[in-house]
Formats: sequence, C-alpha cells, structure tokens
Amino acid sequence: GKVLLAYSGGLDTSCILAWLIEQGYEVQCYMANIGQEEDFEAAREKALKIGATAVYIEDIRRDFVNTTIFPAIQANCLYEGVYLLGTSLARPVIAAKQMEIAKREGCQFVSHGCTGKGNDQVRFELAFYAIDPKIQVIAPWRVPEFYNRFQGRSDLLAYAAEKGIPVQQTAAKPWSTDENLYHISYEAGILEDPNVTPPVDMWKLTTNPEKAPDTPEHLAITFKAGIPVKVENLGDGHVETDPLDLFLYLNHLGRKHGVGRVDIVENRFIGIKSRGCYETPGGTILRAAHVDLEGLAMDREARRLRDSLGVRLSEILYNGYWFTAEREIIQAAVTESQKYIDGTVRVKLYKGSVTMEGRTSPNSLYDQDLSSMDIAGGFHPLDSEGFIKIQSIRLKAYTDMKSRLGKN
Ligand code: ARG
Ligand code: SIN
Repeated sequence: GKVLLAYSGGLDTSCILAWLIEQGYEVQCYMANIGQEEDFEAAREKALKIGATAVYIEDIRRDFVNTTIFPAIQANCLYEGVYLLGTSLARPVIAAKQMEIAKREGCQFVSHGCTGKGNDQVRFELAFYAIDPKIQVIAPWRVPEFYNRFQGRSDLLAYAAEKGIPVQQTAAKPWSTDENLYHISYEAGILEDPNVTPPVDMWKLTTNPEKAPDTPEHLAITFKAGIPVKVENLGDGHVETDPLDLFLYLNHLGRKHGVGRVDIVENRFIGIKSRGCYETPGGTILRAAHVDLEGLAMDREARRLRDSLGVRLSEILYNGYWFTAEREIIQAAVTESQKYIDGTVRVKLYKGSVTMEGRTSPNSLYDQDLSSMDIAGGFHPLDSEGFIKIQSIRLKAYTDMKSRLGKN
C-alpha cells in the first residue's frame, strides 16, 4: 500500500517514516508550509534519505489566512476565554491539502504523528474521513507494535541511530511546540505542572514585554465586511494590503512589542485537562481591533447573537469539526453579521498591550447627539422614566416574594 505521511522533519515523524517503510509500505511525505520556522529543503533531503519515495512541500499560508484565520477573526473566536485557536485553525487547512495530494498520487493511506491523547489526532482524522470517507488512516502512536517499541525519546533515538536517521545535535527542549503563522504553542514536559512558570527563554516569537521598546507603535487597521484589508503604520507610513502580507506585518509588529502571550489550563475534547502556553501576536492585535470596530458598527442584538455563535464556532474549531454542517451554518450567519463591519481602528502597541485609540466607520450606528451628556433631545426624559418604571416591575415582584418568605 501507498501512504502519504504528514512529515515534520523531527525525530517522531522521521522514526514513523522509517517504521512504516519497515512494515512494507511505500511512503510519500507531505510537508505543509503554514508559516512555521523550518528548513524545508533539509527536511526534504532527510525524508528522501530515510526512504520516502517522494516529498511534497506545499505553501498553504495564503489558504490558512483566507480560509480559517480571517473567518475566526470575524467571529472573534476564542476558546475558553483565552486561547486564540492557532493549532485548531491550521489543522483543517493542512488536512485538506494532504487529502488533495493523497488523491492525486493514489495513496490509499494517510498517516500522522499525533499522540493518542490529544486534540490533533481528532482534528486530522475527522477532516480526512469527511473529505474521503474511504481513506484509511495509520496513526502509529495508537498502534501497539509502534508504541510498545517506542516508549520514550531514548527508544526513538536508538532507532534513529540504527536506521541512520540524522538527529539534530541541539538538546531537546523540555516542552513540545506547534508553530504556524498564527501562533506557536508550548505544551508538555516541564509545563505539565500547571504551577511551573514558563522559563523566560521559552517564549520564541515575541519580545519579552518587559524588554519591549519604550516607544509605542501606532497603527490604523481597516476592515471591510469584518475582514482586514489594510494596515498602516502611523509612525513611518508603511502600508500593507495583501491578506498574507498584512497579517505577517502585524505579526512583525506584535512580536516586536511583546503582544499575545497567554498561559491556560484548557479542556481537551477527549476530556483531559492540559496546560498550554501560546504566542499569537498578529491575531491578538486583529481580534482586538475587530471587536472594537463592532462596538461602533454592529447592532446590539446582532452582536449578542453573533457573540454566542462565536463561542460555539470556537468549540467547533477546537474539537475538529470544520468539515461539518454546523460549521457551514454558523459561518454563513457570521458572514451575514459582518456585512456592515467596515471602518478603521487606530491601535497602540506598547510593552505587551494592545490599546484602542480611536475608530471610524461609514456604517457607524453611533449618534453623538443621542449619547451626549451635554445635549438634551432625541427623546423626552420622561420616556426614560417610564422605561425604568416598566423595567422595575418584575424586580419589585421578586423582592416582594422574597420578603413574604422571610428571606430578607
Ligand atoms: N492545545 C492546543 C490545541 O489543542 C495546541 C495543540 C498543539 N499541538 C501539537 N501537536 N503540539 O489546539
Ligand atoms: C498531540 O497529542 O499530538 C499534541 C497535543 C494535542 O493534539 O492536543
């Protein structure tokens, strides 16, 4: 049989590659360039040396930005109030390209290096099966012959030596990461104790906020229908308008100013709690600016409804249900909710913070005269008096009921 393996170039997937070949499979490797720091050509050489019959390196950064990142921004997606979903958003895009190649190359099997305890196995495999119900999945970390043989890093290293697999000489970091252009995650190892503070040198993408520049950066971010279409640096006039370029530029500025670090104990889909640290520089800026613009241009009840859908969409994404009816329905509603979300938000970046400095919209619902404390009018003050009286009816009833029961 022919297998398309999602290959990272690291120790685990290199051993998986050699092991699959040992089991008699023909193995081709797929590497997604999703914005992670990686020497793709070195990884290609390595895979070919181990025995892959082909290596496909695909730049899917643009798909990533347009397909899942921007829709997540439109919905202000956030998991459990903290996590911007960087890994969750990447998986459907990576899986879709993998399936496209598997089909083109006639692979009956696809394989990945996810553990049997995490979210990623679920996300990848739900995507694989949704795209091609007949695909067969090999998840070595759930195959007894594999996991019994490789019980720890030392077993993998011994196998790598036996198979002549080159291993990077740098000492392994005491945590595991997943990087793409939206974020980097840190989990496992020393981070498994939720009370261990991450060492300062763990954070790889962003400047330590305490060491970030003393001079703030002022930007203007313009949205059209809830999608960012322009980023302007108000200091030096630098402008980006291409979706990928503007996102990378926000990353650059966010990194420089130490924006987007979080640390959370989250609930994995399979029911396990997990401690994770994340850096999401550009995404943190964009999400904050988008939330702000909606304050000006979105109707209150539209917003309540969209907020609830955003929470639901975040769970759908986290749990790996991208290729589902429920995601399509919610995304259609979110898109509808964004049709008037046009305008420009001015933002300040300073030592880890993102602060709003002003906003304008051609579709503003804000009425300065109505809101003003200084101007009377728009409606009669007695209308407010009546409004409050009517609103208080059930409050009074509740208090009366409690005093009848002697509760206060
Ligand atoms: N806990 C995060 C999530 O489930 C990050 C997962 C990181 N994945 C990885 N293979 N290191 O989205
Ligand atoms: C893994 O288990 O492969 C990484 C962590 C996760 O998927 O949640």
